[in-house]
Amino acid sequence: MCGIVGYTGKRGSVSTLLDGLARLEYRGYDSAGLAILETGQLKIVKSVGKVKNLEASVAEIWPDFENCIGTAGIAHTRWATHGAPTEANAHPHLDNSGKFAIVHNGIIDNYLDLRKHLQEQGCTFKSETDSEVLAHLISQCHEGDLMHAAAAACKKLKGTYGFAVICVDDPDTIVVARRGSPLVIGVGNNETLIASDIAAIAAYTKRVIFLNDDDLALITPDKIDIRNIENVPVSRETAKIDWDIAAAEKNGYEHFMLKEIFEQPDAVANTIRGRLDEAARTAILSGLDMTAAETASVSRIVIAACGTSMNAGMVGEYYFEDIAGIPAEVEQAAEFRYRNPIIEDRTLVLAISQSGETADTLAAVREAKNKGGIVAAINNVVGSTIARETGRGIYLHAGPEIGVASTKAFTCQVTALLLMALLFGRGRRVNRCEGKNLIDEIKSIPELIRKVLARSGEIERVAKKYAGAEDFFFIGRGCMYPSALEGALKLKEISYIHAEGYHAAELKHGPIALLEERVPVLALANDIPGRDKIFANIQECRARKSPVIATATEGDTQISEFTDDILWIPRCSRFAAPIPTVVALQLFAYYIAKERGCEIDQPRNLAKSVTVE
Ligand code: AGP
Repeated sequence: MCGIVGYTGKRGSVSTLLDGLARLEYRGYDSAGLAILETGQLKIVKSVGKVKNLEASVAEIWPDFENCIGTAGIAHTRWATHGAPTEANAHPHLDNSGKFAIVHNGIIDNYLDLRKHLQEQGCTFKSETDSEVLAHLISQCHEGDLMHAAAAACKKLKGTYGFAVICVDDPDTIVVARRGSPLVIGVGNNETLIASDIAAIAAYTKRVIFLNDDDLALITPDKIDIRNIENVPVSRETAKIDWDIAAAEKNGYEHFMLKEIFEQPDAVANTIRGRLDEAARTAILSGLDMTAAETASVSRIVIAACGTSMNAGMVGEYYFEDIAGIPAEVEQAAEFRYRNPIIEDRTLVLAISQSGETADTLAAVREAKNKGGIVAAINNVVGSTIARETGRGIYLHAGPEIGVASTKAFTCQVTALLLMALLFGRGRRVNRCEGKNLIDEIKSIPELIRKVLARSGEIERVAKKYAGAEDFFFIGRGCMYPSALEGALKLKEISYIHAEGYHAAELKHGPIALLEERVPVLALANDIPGRDKIFANIQECRARKSPVIATATEGDTQISEFTDDILWIPRCSRFAAPIPTVVALQLFAYYIAKERGCEIDQPRNLAKSVTVE
């Protein structure tokens, strides 16, 4: 959950490293550091807090650090797992000779044994981190060849890693290795970069190489030598990034999250583009790489995901059963491999992940493959580990999602699931007419979102009214239940209000005990099947003096009688309704968090992709 970046070339590593770190900050931001090789010396700077603190410390040492300081260097922005966010625990870590510096993303499970062994060999440790063992281990294994030393060290490691190491004896050289944590190489002209993801590289090159598990690479300004852990050369494809750097900037919005909320009409249009076959009244999902016979043979769909992606999966569960008539279930990815799931050869296991790097979802993919299931992914980051390990799936094409609180990924994931339900449904219970209706519904989604965004001023006014609440309930029925879960998750993540999402019928079985005038309830009461039931639930909440806000379909003349405030949603079918409704809930959470002065893009204790179990 950290971000690492490395540079070797003529551009001057300090400013390049700081720029790269700033673009990786959403991966972790409690401390940072860098190490550069300059005139045969290793220079280290570390600081607690955000990258801008590191920049300040760097400027004290190198006032003109913009001008070509250092030929090769590595840097790190941290999300603490072992040891509090202190300068000593910040990366890079050195060995006792001070010749080797490492930065690491991941968790070394057997670090305590390695640490004890190394201490018995006379090594003294300066931090509480698991990562520091790497510096001492590589130093111990070093017999003149940095790549060999790194490979030897990797053989002793259990757990996950993406690390980079530099050594004073090898100017201009960086060695990297990965197992379980992402690492990409940026191929430049007389310069080479490495990073945890392409966001840190896209400003310098569009040519990238994704490393696989147990790959190592030695890079210099004009050489990239990739080998496996047995020192056998391996070839890896050079891919082209289709993002422009502006996509990773804020474009005038105050926060990445708000920018990404307003990008949703285009992002969803990108997810739909080229995937509707109007003549055949079905969807075209070539990335799934399944023949009509194969889609028809699927007997069950198991969705594995975490967080927002799991909430999207739960909407998909309704789609697959209601539209396509295929039994479907959602698994918390973290549980999947520990509960010995029943996966047959006609079971499609669908991994949903924005980043494609979430450790628990990746492990679910591997478990499903071991069990012989058909495995596919819905992913946003091209070339991510989950995308490469499943080898088939749907890319969202939503563009980079920088805000830690996921927004456009959710609406694009739900749209992709609706496309899948149409494709699988056409082979089963969806006739041509129903196919046409679904296609029209899917095509209308960007406009539905635009209509909600046009009401952002109204939503802000309502949100400000409830910014003082400390507890909140979101309730819904049918596929509005996972939408309620998503609304509550967004509010929790960025405003730190204790918000709970519940199926509206569940309230009576306990949570209703918490309702009173200081606990608002947001009811998803759109004019779709189940509306009359949710009206009854609203009455129950009001009877306990809870203020009630409702999402309601434009033109609904009854709802205002039963509620204190309304978030209006354009009329649409029960299948499309979760998308515009959740956009309204994203804005609701955003404006409450803003009113409370919260750190919206980088909420406390969170990170954008959770690459450890
Ligand atoms: C959502 O806002 C959170 N950032 C988090 O719950 C996220 O959805 C979860 O970690 C899954 O991430 P993924 O989609 O990248 O796998």
